[in-house]
Amino acid sequence: MPSIFSSPNPILFGIGTAKETGARLKELGCSKVLVVFDQGVKNAGIADKVLESIHAAGIKTVCYDNVLPDPPDWSVDEAGALGVKENVDGVVGIGGGSSMDTAKAAKILLTNPPPINQYFGRQGVVKTAGKPLIVIPTTAGTGSESTPGGVITDTKRNVKDVVAGIGCAVTLGIVDPELTISLPPAITASTGMDVLCHAVESFTSKRSNSFCDVLAREAITLVGKHLAIVCQDGSNVEARAGMLFAGSLGGMALSGPLCHLGHDIGKPLGANFHIPHGTACATCLPQAVEYIAPAVPEKVKFIAEALGSNVPGNATAEETGLIACEAIKGLMREINLPNLKSYGLTKEQVLAVAPEVMKLGLELAPMPTTEAVVRNLLDRAYDEN
Ligand SMILES: [Fe+2]
Repeated sequence: MPSIFSSPNPILFGIGTAKETGARLKELGCSKVLVVFDQGVKNAGIADKVLESIHAAGIKTVCYDNVLPDPPDWSVDEAGALGVKENVDGVVGIGGGSSMDTAKAAKILLTNPPPINQYFGRQGVVKTAGKPLIVIPTTAGTGSESTPGGVITDTKRNVKDVVAGIGCAVTLGIVDPELTISLPPAITASTGMDVLCHAVESFTSKRSNSFCDVLAREAITLVGKHLAIVCQDGSNVEARAGMLFAGSLGGMALSGPLCHLGHDIGKPLGANFHIPHGTACATCLPQAVEYIAPAVPEKVKFIAEALGSNVPGNATAEETGLIACEAIKGLMREINLPNLKSYGLTKEQVLAVAPEVMKLGLELAPMPTTEAVVRNLLDRAYDEN
């Protein structure tokens, strides 16, 4: 069943574009904005660069710099309350997915009463556009600058939930490769694998559609071309631009088809063992792609070849799957992505995640997903990756 392709929000892409933030906010009619980021962005000096641009345009700022990983609902409520108290007329989110998603959710609270928990829902609870929001990614990963929603942790239910729809829509994404130059190799590798997971899983989802397939193919190709390079030489601006572009494309690609096995298995792995999102989602990706090859052999062939492997013309679906599995494993080794053993986990701990994966209600992988299948993928990933 194909999904609906939604055209993404406007995106300004290019080296140096972050310097235009102030001018763009002025065009949007803003005079005082809430700027949302975390301590990492602050310490890297990235927030100051953007703030400089905003102030140069004569726009006042109030900063919320307490964004946390897996942003908790109370943090969003704090950010929203600050924006309301300071009477801001716009929001800017700078950082990875956590900062951008906090900014999206805080935007809702500028024009709707708190707490944020009452606005969770994939269809979007808030139906009015609210105030302008600019998001500026500093990692090539989540693609939140091009998706119509954000992931927030509901601390009462202890689950991640979603804000979505026009109420938290991005008015403009500013995607500047220069901002990713200082990203350390380990974060570059993890977030880069998140890009690959978004693209591969949306491309092979049961709900894939032709528009998203185009975007996913290009994202996979860009990852194959640039990810290993940026992990070895973070100062390579051309490769950084390629990965950042791939991240935005991956975000667009997944908005209708969504993700399947990689993310479904990665979410509880990440939550239970504090494994970074991209690394957790990539854990079973090689074996998952091999598993689904009989259902989508041509797509798996594309993935293998985009990652640099040769697939013989007479290869069976199973052989194609194996080649793609090896290609992804090779990339993970090349970028020094940590494996399950490196987190000190036993196989028993890892396999215990399988029932939690099933609770997510898996339905989008193109092959049947049973608990036995998930256990097998985890078992193999533990031994092989
Ligand atoms: Fe992801």
